[in-house]
Parts: sequence; structure tokens; C-alpha cells
Amino acid sequence: MSISYFRTAETLITGSGSIAQIGEQAKKLNASKIIIVTDKVIRQTGLLSKVLEPLKAAEIEVDLIDDVVPEPPFENLEEMIIKIEGKGYDLLVGVGGGSALDITKVLSIMLTNKGDIRDKVGIEKVEKPGVPTILVPTTAGTGSEVTFNAIFTDTRDQVKKGIVSPYLLPKVAIVDPELTLTVPPAVTAATGMDALVHAVESYTAIRADELTDGIALQAIKLISRSLRTAVYNGKDLKAREDMVMGSLLAGISLGNAGVGAVHALAYPLGGKYKVPHGVANSLLLPFVMKYNAVADLEKFAEVAKAMGENVNGLSLREVANCAVQALAQLSEDVGIPASLKDVGVAFSDIPALAEEASKVERLLSNNPRWLSVKEIQKIYEEAYGTVETTTLIPVQA
Ligand SMILES: [Fe+2]
Repeated sequence: MSISYFRTAETLITGSGSIAQIGEQAKKLNASKIIIVTDKVIRQTGLLSKVLEPLKAAEIEVDLIDDVVPEPPFENLEEMIIKIEGKGYDLLVGVGGGSALDITKVLSIMLTNKGDIRDKVGIEKVEKPGVPTILVPTTAGTGSEVTFNAIFTDTRDQVKKGIVSPYLLPKVAIVDPELTLTVPPAVTAATGMDALVHAVESYTAIRADELTDGIALQAIKLISRSLRTAVYNGKDLKAREDMVMGSLLAGISLGNAGVGAVHALAYPLGGKYKVPHGVANSLLLPFVMKYNAVADLEKFAEVAKAMGENVNGLSLREVANCAVQALAQLSEDVGIPASLKDVGVAFSDIPALAEEASKVERLLSNNPRWLSVKEIQKIYEEAYGTVETTTLIPVQA
């Protein structure tokens, strides 16, 4: 058994209505001046009153910045640093989806560390802890509230880049399903599938261990049983509870075991074509898993079982194939496009996309099966719908 580290938020608060605890938590962190970091869409929903009221009741000074944009470029972050530095904030509260939470995490470290933000890209390039943070997700997907990475788009080369540091973890994460009840179906589908990708990729990752395995499997179970209901009947609190818990568990597993080739191949689609992260991941998931499954039949069989597939009487290979098919079916059921054509990718761009994805060594080296540029290109081509590869595990008679 190799040595591994397990990290997550210092305190996790979950459950319906748990956002009411935020005032008490801010006080425990000795906060006197807080800035809430969010985006304009969240501001318009009226959700912020649930965050603001307990903070005001705790008699803490609160400011708000709503400049976060989706899939944020470094420039978005740089503009926000200029606006908030030197104002004496001693607690940052991130409210929103992955973009708002990632920005909050990086603002926190940029207030205490010198240098350009691009110098922090990579693993453990941050020298000092940041200003304390409380993270409040309003979608069930990224798991950003418990991961120690943050992803940005570099507009210079249109590539998504990650900052990875344990200092990005929050003091407190508050995960309240009631905050997700009004998330529209398309966003519920894309973010929910992103969470499922986190669970499946981290479960089958090279760095997975006993701790992350149990967590990831439970995430797969919760998301598989409730994503369809959350998409088509968003007011169903039980389904939303499953989704926020599934997303949280998937985030914990991803934070510690990492993800793999699905994310590596999805990044260039987000950078160049602006395909939303969850859609890119969900679209690529069945194709990458079809390629990966042969590398770990046992684990893929466990994925099928966690997804509730009827596997009685099937061989191990057949059960592993069931997992691949069940993932594709779920993605289709929640309305995610099944082809790269449908998200505007030009076939002639595939060699360049494959070249770009092959550089995401940090993730590819954690994938259970090695991919060269040639294999990455084949997977993109299959996801485009032009070729049928033979990588599906042959079922023996
Ligand atoms: Fe993701």
C-alpha cells in the first residue's frame, strides 16, 4: 500500500436549510469584514438573501462583487484582484457554480501571495495560505467547494489551465440542496454529468485508493439514481439532495484521486469552442470509457453495479461494457449532445485538438490506460461520429 494524503475542506456542513449556519461560521472564523464573490445570474435569482441575512444577523460588515463570468479567463480574476485588494477583507464567501468558487479560492491566495497569477499555474506553486474562505455551491456539479484546484482560460493560447494547491481548500463548505432547486434543466444536466465524470474518472484513476473508492462509488450511486429526476422535475428536493451529496462526494474523490483523459480531452473543447465544461465531459465520457474499460474490468463492473444495472448472469467483460453503455444512456437521457458535430467542432480541427489534449500530462498520466496523440485523435473522431473504433471490449462467447 503506497503512502497517500487525503485532504478536504476543514468543515463540511450539509443538509436542507444549512445555509442559515453561515453567520455563526463566519463569527467562529473571527470575520469582521466579508466580501461575497458571485456572478450576476446568481444575484438576479434572489438566492443571495439566504446568505446575506444570517451574516447581517451576526452583525458582520458585508460587501459584494458580482463580476464572475462563466469559464473565467485570467483577466476576469485580475480585474477582481484590483477591486478587492487593500480593503481589509478577512473572509471571502464564494457563492455560485464552479467559476465563482474557483475565483474565490484564487482571490484568497492572491491577497496574501506576491507575483503574477500565471506563475501559480501548476502543482503547489503557491507559497502561503490565503485569506480564509467559506464556499457555498449553488449547482451540483463541480465539487469546487472541496477541491484544491481552480481552472481558468488563458486567452493567449485559448487553453484551460489549472492552479493546484492545498491552500485553495476552504475553511468551511456549506452544501444546501435548497439553493439548487431553481437551477434550470440544461444546467442541472451538464453540471450533474460533470459530477458523474468526476466520480467515474477518480474511481478508475491510477491514484485512486481505498478511501476515494468508497466515496466515488457512493457518488456514482446517488447521481445515477437521481440525475434524471433533478433534470426533469427540478423541484424534487430528494433528487436535489442526492445530487448535491453526489457532487460533494465526487468532488472529494476527485480532489484526492484526480481525474483523467475525459477532462484532458474536454479542456481544448472549452478553450477553443467554449463548450461548457459539463457538456464537453459528458459528451466524451462514453468514448473515453469505452477505451479505458479494458484496463480495469473489475472497476468498470463495479461502476455498472453502482449505477443499478441488472448484471445477473453476465460475464465480467459484459458487466464492464454495461457501465459504458449506462453512462452513454444517462448522458442521452438528460439531453447532452452525443456528437462533437452538435457542439460546433470542425472535423478539420481534430488533429490540433488532439495535439492540445496530449499536453495535459497532469491528467493523462492518471488515466488507467495510456493515450498517445494518435489514440486521442481516434477518440475525438469517434465522438465526431465519423469512425467506429474497435476499442469496445470484445465480449467472449
Ligand atoms: Fe469537471
